[in-house]
Amino acid sequence: MRFSEEFLSELRARTDIEELIGKFTEIKHRGSRTPVALCPFHAEKTPSFVIYRDTQSYYCFGCGAGGDAITFIKNIERLDYTESVRYLCERAGMNMPLDPVDDEYNRLRRRCYEANREAARFFYSTLSTPQAEKARSYLEKRRLSPETVKRFGLGFAPDKWDALLKHMKEKGFTETELVSFDLAKKTSKGGTIDAFRNRLMFPIMDLRGNVIAFGGRVLDDSKPKYLNTSDTVVYKKSQALYALNFAKNNSERKLILCEGYMDVIAMHQAGFTNAVAGLGTAFTKEQISLLTRYCDELTLCFDSDEAGKKATKRALSMLSSSPLKLKVMHLQDGKDPDEIIKTQGKEKMNTIINSAVNDTEFALNDAKGRVDTSTEDGKLNFLNEAVVILAGVDNAIERDLYVSKLSEELSVEKRAIEQQILKQRRFMKKAHENAQFDVARSIASGEEKISSPNPEKRGNVRAVKAEEIILASLLRHPDYLRKLSGILSAQIFVTDFGRRYFEDISSRIMSGRSLELFSFSEDSDSEEMSYLAYLFAKGAEISNSLEECKQCIQTLLEEKSKKNVPDVGKLSSEEYLELFRKKRDKKKTEGV
Ligand code: GTP
Ligand code: MN
Repeated sequence: MRFSEEFLSELRARTDIEELIGKFTEIKHRGSRTPVALCPFHAEKTPSFVIYRDTQSYYCFGCGAGGDAITFIKNIERLDYTESVRYLCERAGMNMPLDPVDDEYNRLRRRCYEANREAARFFYSTLSTPQAEKARSYLEKRRLSPETVKRFGLGFAPDKWDALLKHMKEKGFTETELVSFDLAKKTSKGGTIDAFRNRLMFPIMDLRGNVIAFGGRVLDDSKPKYLNTSDTVVYKKSQALYALNFAKNNSERKLILCEGYMDVIAMHQAGFTNAVAGLGTAFTKEQISLLTRYCDELTLCFDSDEAGKKATKRALSMLSSSPLKLKVMHLQDGKDPDEIIKTQGKEKMNTIINSAVNDTEFALNDAKGRVDTSTEDGKLNFLNEAVVILAGVDNAIERDLYVSKLSEELSVEKRAIEQQILKQRRFMKKAHENAQFDVARSIASGEEKISSPNPEKRGNVRAVKAEEIILASLLRHPDYLRKLSGILSAQIFVTDFGRRYFEDISSRIMSGRSLELFSFSEDSDSEEMSYLAYLFAKGAEISNSLEECKQCIQTLLEEKSKKNVPDVGKLSSEEYLELFRKKRDKKKTEGV
């Protein structure tokens, strides 16, 4: 819904962003001009999340997350725009404006939830009809109980082109809607068919239990084994985890991350109800931040084949800076949890879970597995790797335990290993301090190294910097637009990205609309909000003088002419040739 500027500015006045963010992450240097915190949106150990009091914005120099209070709530609570405003409204003790004029996007989202719920019902009820005979026997073969099937809402998509389509149309959904929700597909001939046919259906639910997508598995060995809903208005697969809606309620704050739907379901059926899985994509940082909200300990349970090992290492390295306690399960013979439970029972699975090793042991085992420790060479290689691994362990007691074990195992003196580790730690500390210093310096000077989110930056470093100074200055001094009117226009921007933001900002200035971040929230997605917050952050560090803007305009003109002269000449002759070729080909075909 649209909110009036008066309402938004009152909400803004009654919301202190520092206090708000402080509820979600610990703020360092409270009360200073620019407090910093550990970023709640990505895993980190040293703070790179900066809060700007004067603009009531935040920007993370580590992951690029940024925005205003509304963006913050949207992203951390995973609410939509209106819900976030409501959240802040309640917090500020204000009333939501009445008579909400529904906005198209929210309407579409609601329709998408409704359609998915209806489709899930359809698949579920189809499962008990005669046409689903082979799906039922498949479930039996995989030992899934009726209770499990019901709990996970499993269903069957009939072996027809339009079974769901027909049903959904009767329920009032249009083809356009179904295609946009990825429940139906357009064919190359212009027809529309069901997206899932002859498949066992796994509804994917959000944290509140709304169905937001589906996975569909074949009942035999045909390919592709799984089909999954593409991203829609309610579903971003990189930000969701299968079964987290059930697993999040575990009081121990421990989760098990498996590879697939079937593993998760088998685990839950066997009583391990804290299992979740990714959704057919590589593990993402959004998923890490989601996990961090529901657990303190995460056990990785990937297949033991090479692919699984690789996925484990990748996940561990992504998780290395997160506060989570990490463990890795060892599944023998390339089996997955589903097979282990089926063939060896849940007690065996329980033993495996309990003998999961921590990330250090996993890394040590892995390093050892790659060498032959019966030779001196192999021993040395292993020790060198072990030193690097153990240098990363901050707890001295823990380190000592491993060193004792290693020294015994390889009959190497404990002191020698310890010395190497200390040396490595000093080296790492120095490297870390250097990196920290770079970040601190770049924040202070507004210099490069703060990586700009502008995707065209490569090859345009100088221009992008100038564009950003102009944009950042305009946000703080809208009057500059008039003062620079003779020389500043959209045409002088080198990157399309910068130009788009210039057009947006200048049209706001000209129509007298607010330039506060709050007023951008409604029409901007998270990425755009991050970029705007980045510009506000930048504005805090530069001089914002008219003179500097003029210099930047000059820079842009220079950069543009540098680019244009050779490029246009070259491009136009190529274009000419291309055009010529096309014309010639056309004539040929017409002549036939
Ligand atoms: P079962 O073979 O039924 O036991 O399933 P599984 O969960 O053991 O499957 P597997 O280990 O082969 O794959 C793990 C996960 O990767 C699945 O749950 C899917 O999310 C995903 N996946 C597997 N095959 C495909 C595929 O063909 N296409 C897509 N998009 N995803 C797949
Ligand atoms: Mn499997």
